[in-house]
Amino acid sequence: MTTITCIDDLQRLARRRVPKMFYDYADSGSWTESTYRANHSDFDTIKFRQRVMVDMAGRSVKCEMLGQPCSMPVALAPVGLTGMQHADGEIHAARAAEKFGVPFTLSTMSICSIEDVAEHTNSPFWFQLYVMRDRDYVGRLIDRARAAGCSALVLTADLQILGQRHKDIINGMTVPPRPTVRNLINLATKWRWVLGMLRTQRRTFGNIAGHVKDASNLSSLSAWTASQFDPSLSWDDVRWIKERWGGKLIIKGILDPEDAEAAVNAGADGIIVSNHGGRQLDGAPSSIRALPAIVSAVGERTEVYLDGGIRSGQDILKAVALGAKSVFIGRAFIYGLGAMGEKGVTIALNTLYKELDTTLALCGLRDIQDVDTKILWQDSQLMHP
Ligand SMILES: Cc1cc2nc3c(=O)[nH]c(=O)nc-3n(C[C@H](O)[C@H](O)[C@H](O)COP(=O)(O)O)c2cc1C
Repeated sequence: MTTITCIDDLQRLARRRVPKMFYDYADSGSWTESTYRANHSDFDTIKFRQRVMVDMAGRSVKCEMLGQPCSMPVALAPVGLTGMQHADGEIHAARAAEKFGVPFTLSTMSICSIEDVAEHTNSPFWFQLYVMRDRDYVGRLIDRARAAGCSALVLTADLQILGQRHKDIINGMTVPPRPTVRNLINLATKWRWVLGMLRTQRRTFGNIAGHVKDASNLSSLSAWTASQFDPSLSWDDVRWIKERWGGKLIIKGILDPEDAEAAVNAGADGIIVSNHGGRQLDGAPSSIRALPAIVSAVGERTEVYLDGGIRSGQDILKAVALGAKSVFIGRAFIYGLGAMGEKGVTIALNTLYKELDTTLALCGLRDIQDVDTKILWQDSQLMHP
């Protein structure tokens, strides 16, 4: 019996239970991984002001994202191949998010399809779009998301070209794993994962299979997706995507105030300050360091969210203090999923909730809506050791 006290505990359990190539796929960043590391470690440099003798009774961390009530300022980020961390992973995660009252975002590169997730959940979820060269297919994906009742479209802007992750190359990452000796030895120690996969039919890219010509097997599908991302994606494309979608649009992968301006001008209802979890431009600043400049540029005109490096409720509160309306979590829920399926995602959400609520109280506040930079020390006020 493993005692879970924090997200790091879930990460340790996931490392034990998920096949190495899929665990590494999640726990990695591009090239030197400097941006990946900074996403998390930069939170440690931000310090709360501890306040005492204030009434802490009757607290609330409730908020709204795009008018949708949320039990806390957290949404599940789109994560490709979630169904390879745990069998039927997207359905498990979507259900946990639904029960907790936070949005779930389904990746274009999911294992369970849009329709499949819709069939196994009751509330609308959000759909993340990658723009491929085949615009007819992109249009059809948008139509499918609308038909499935998705209530927001999250357009990812920062992955038209792939940043290299060394571990994926070393592990020979494929979906599903190739039966090499090394993989078979590793799988032999992951019996829970193997049993789950044997019990499900969901082992391919659910949104692509059956919708793409010549995509009859998994390895050709991976090759197809790698070659199909459209490097010419521009702000003009956002206009037709918005028109075709006709609903709320979030643009994900904004790390520069000028791009934030362009996103607002293109009609974004929200933007996610993000460097794709340190998986794309290695050497870019952490999301939390880029956040204040972006909030000051566009915060009055659009909802500004942040993702990257969130591993605790304290991190969430720091992001909100610096102007984020809400945060998205990737690995924090993925580790929970790999560790224990739906239950693990619920534990991850519960853990973040409790940490957030207690930290709010220790900062002397009762309502997350009252949080701003005043709960943080200015660096110049602190003595440096
Ligand atoms: C394994 C993995 C797969 C991802 N797949 C996608 C994806 O399909 N689409 C997307 O927009 N972002 C994807 N992301 C990026 C996340 O949406 C998010 O930006 C990132 O995970 C946030 O950082 P965090 O994991 O430190 O919370 C992925 C991230 C990880 C770790």
